[in-house]
Amino acid sequence: MSIRFDLPDETKIEAEKIIEKNYRDMLLNTRIAGAKTVKDWADKLTLEYLSTSNLSISNETNMVSFEGLGVTQQITQLIQKLFPKQVVRATGFFHYPPTGYMGWHTNRNDPCKRLYLTWTNEADKSFFRYIKDEKVITDYDDKGLTSRLFEVTGEPPFLWHCVGSETDRLSFGFSIR
Ligand SMILES: [Fe+2]
Repeated sequence: MSIRFDLPDETKIEAEKIIEKNYRDMLLNTRIAGAKTVKDWADKLTLEYLSTSNLSISNETNMVSFEGLGVTQQITQLIQKLFPKQVVRATGFFHYPPTGYMGWHTNRNDPCKRLYLTWTNEADKSFFRYIKDEKVITDYDDKGLTSRLFEVTGEPPFLWHCVGSETDRLSFGFSIR
């Protein structure tokens, strides 16, 4: 089962337009906030690290939020149009700088359907990693827009997942209820 989600063409084009237009601002926001470089980021995203650490709701990360920028509202409206009968809520808008990561976690405290749009200028340099049937699956991002839809469960089996990037990666997260 893939977690990839195909956006309708017109949504994709519109999202690309909005992101490209606001790209510099989103990265500038990180420069102002001062992102940390984490040399051993990749070591924190291994199955070994997950099985030897006592993680529950990990928030090991060096990503930077760009929540306040106007782009967030525009993208949220675009996604809401895709699910007219459901409530779309923004769950986080983040820039992962090179060596950016978000450690293993489950989001079990907020079970719902999740949609993520990500943006990067380089293919195969950043990824969404998750565990499915006890196997680690690393889904590398495409160049430009990548879209994923998956269910976060409040009961076992939980959806353990993490994110890593060796390049600039923008992430737009939504809950759909
Ligand atoms: Fe998550």
